[in-house]
Amino acid sequence: MRSPLPAKVPAFFPFGFTIRATLPLLAAACCFLCATAAAAEPVTAGERADALLARMTTDEKISQLVLLTGYGAVTGPVQLQQSLEDNIRKGECGNVFNVMSVAQVRKLQKIAVEDTRLHIPLLFGYDVIHGYKTIFPICLGEAASWNPALIENSERVAATEGAAAGLNWTFAPMVDIARDPRWGRICEGAGEDPFLGSAIAAARVRGIQGTNLAAPDTLLACVKHYAAYGAVQAGREYNTVDMSERMLREVYLPPYRAAIDAGALSVMASFNELNGIPATANRFLLQQILRDEWGFTGFVVTDYTAVNEMVAHGSAADETEAARQALAAGVDMDMQSSAYLNHLKELLAAGKISQAQIDTAARRILEVKFKLGLFDDPYRRCDEQREKQVLYSPENLEAAYRMACESCVLLKNQNQALPLKTGANIAVIGPLADSQRDLLGSWKGEGDWNFIETVLGAIRHENTNGTVTYARGCDIASTNRDGFAAAVRAAQNADVAVLVLGESCDMCGEAKSRTSINLPGVQTELLREIKQTGKPIVLVLMNGRPLTLEEESQISDAVLDTWFPGTEGGRATADLLFGRQNPSGKLPVTFPRTLGQVPIFYAAKNTGRPLNPANPKEAYKSSYIDCPNDPLYPFGFGLSYTTFTYSDVQLDGTTLRPGGTLTATVTVTNSGPRDGAEVVQLYLRQLVGSVTRPVRELKGFQKLELKAGESRTVAFSIGEKELSFLRADMTVGTEPGKFQVFIGPNSRDTSAAAFELLE
Ligand code: NOJ
Repeated sequence: MRSPLPAKVPAFFPFGFTIRATLPLLAAACCFLCATAAAAEPVTAGERADALLARMTTDEKISQLVLLTGYGAVTGPVQLQQSLEDNIRKGECGNVFNVMSVAQVRKLQKIAVEDTRLHIPLLFGYDVIHGYKTIFPICLGEAASWNPALIENSERVAATEGAAAGLNWTFAPMVDIARDPRWGRICEGAGEDPFLGSAIAAARVRGIQGTNLAAPDTLLACVKHYAAYGAVQAGREYNTVDMSERMLREVYLPPYRAAIDAGALSVMASFNELNGIPATANRFLLQQILRDEWGFTGFVVTDYTAVNEMVAHGSAADETEAARQALAAGVDMDMQSSAYLNHLKELLAAGKISQAQIDTAARRILEVKFKLGLFDDPYRRCDEQREKQVLYSPENLEAAYRMACESCVLLKNQNQALPLKTGANIAVIGPLADSQRDLLGSWKGEGDWNFIETVLGAIRHENTNGTVTYARGCDIASTNRDGFAAAVRAAQNADVAVLVLGESCDMCGEAKSRTSINLPGVQTELLREIKQTGKPIVLVLMNGRPLTLEEESQISDAVLDTWFPGTEGGRATADLLFGRQNPSGKLPVTFPRTLGQVPIFYAAKNTGRPLNPANPKEAYKSSYIDCPNDPLYPFGFGLSYTTFTYSDVQLDGTTLRPGGTLTATVTVTNSGPRDGAEVVQLYLRQLVGSVTRPVRELKGFQKLELKAGESRTVAFSIGEKELSFLRADMTVGTEPGKFQVFIGPNSRDTSAAAFELLE
């Protein structure tokens, strides 16, 4: 029933909370307090959730477990569905996603807090993955910055923008370790390594949630996709995952754990099955590890329609049974399948689930809503003025520019092909040179691409005293060669050819697995044609995954990988090409020579017949007969316009007692002509263990800014934490024995020292 009271009473209820919503809440609160006069007033979010839960009907509780989308498409705003409004009004849906902008959020929130009996506010979720309006480089690109503080800042900006648009929840961070570049979602994570991945996962959560979850500029983080989604067989999307518990715990779980330790209060179960049980009904993952071992107190949401998908998996005969299994395993919220909405009540009546199970799930969700401050002011993130000021603010664009500069990786630079000289005659060639949309990458959020500067535009901007000729050359993926002749002519008349090649932004992300990871279409042919002109070639890449680039990198004088660099990516790329900025990115994932080497990652095992580097062709060794073992570009690799020299590794001892620490130091000198940044990387190897150890594992890194000629000594502490591992008995700890320490600019070119951990 509508109240005749005025909608707003600003003096008494600041922050725009409507009195129609407030009075019933206050009345309800008073009744409750009277009824429980002897009980202490609920203060914490948990106590407040308990108090509210005590007044809820089963239907009201179930509605809290339901998450429905505002529209069918994955991206782009459309009219709200009338039925969603009805769902909310009828108390069938307690949370929505894919609804954004203050106007839209306010509209639905108003229904929830004014037209439902208990006035419980909605969560508004959205995939703010690498930016909301201001789009940052794709996450794999951001990981190449090896700069967690900068990544935290990206997330702060993204969360601030998302919250300014009324959202209170993002389905991020995605922290899936991925070692198979065929998988399209490798672009959404931090690459192949658990140590780097964990540092970045924690940074992302800190950035998203800020220091106060109730602040109007924070979002609730959702760690996804739990678990091991990055290990789908053959890199095929949604495919089966079958792996040992050891591999799971050593490699795949650490980033989820790091995100939870950093305070993330929601987790998304992944689409895949793990060892025969879909993650959505996997008690081992959701109860034993997540809750019992890690102490997670937030709530678990499914991925999109994943409850229903258990029928296709073959682990549940129908949706009713799927809903039962998911709830029993510890899934609190059902994204979009409606299986909870449609079946929990009947399951309860049949005694197949308990009231306690529903209560537990509802309470977890309500507690987070209290922590988000939604009960104190459901409109705290609904401020039109702030929305206008924050989205695309100059500071946000500047943050995206800085991130784009730090995420690009210089893979090759011979004959000083880079930096380009202004005033030169430059041929800019390739299907990505003048593409606005592709710059934004896989998750574009609400980013507009129509106004952004392309790589071509930015090169023109920069090279005003020279000439820039543009020829598209070919499409990204078609076999049409009609543009080759014009591209060759442009190169012939130029001092240098800059080719901007790669994948389209639609070739990576969800459901974008590939069976070859080469440059699509006839782009390599185009490159060969341009090579015939004899002009220096600078290859600028856009890609959401490692590509096989052996020939392309041989043909080119310089190669700069920009991933998909975001809203400010055109400017950042041009500034890097002309040397206004100095590249400092390092690969967060190995680039193979050929797809046949996949999975290829630096932290491999030695095997019983390791290849002899002095004689790599020796027979009966762990090798290929048609390809070297080593990758084209190793993990951690990336060049600069300056050079860095490393001293030998110094250790302050050769033995270590359990509980003690050693310090490894190295002096890094900027021995080149200009200022630059370098990521100094520490790797360890335990030579013998109760289970075999990888040939090296990243255990530390530091990014340094060094002026030309400057030297700095970098110290890494090595102790219990760095030396512990999952022993044969599945306990975590150290074992005595010999270790090697490697420090260097990437996982390959290191110098070494040795020590022994004593009994
Ligand atoms: C499916 C994707 O797997 C997940 O990452 C995303 O958050 C949801 N859809 C919601 O859009």
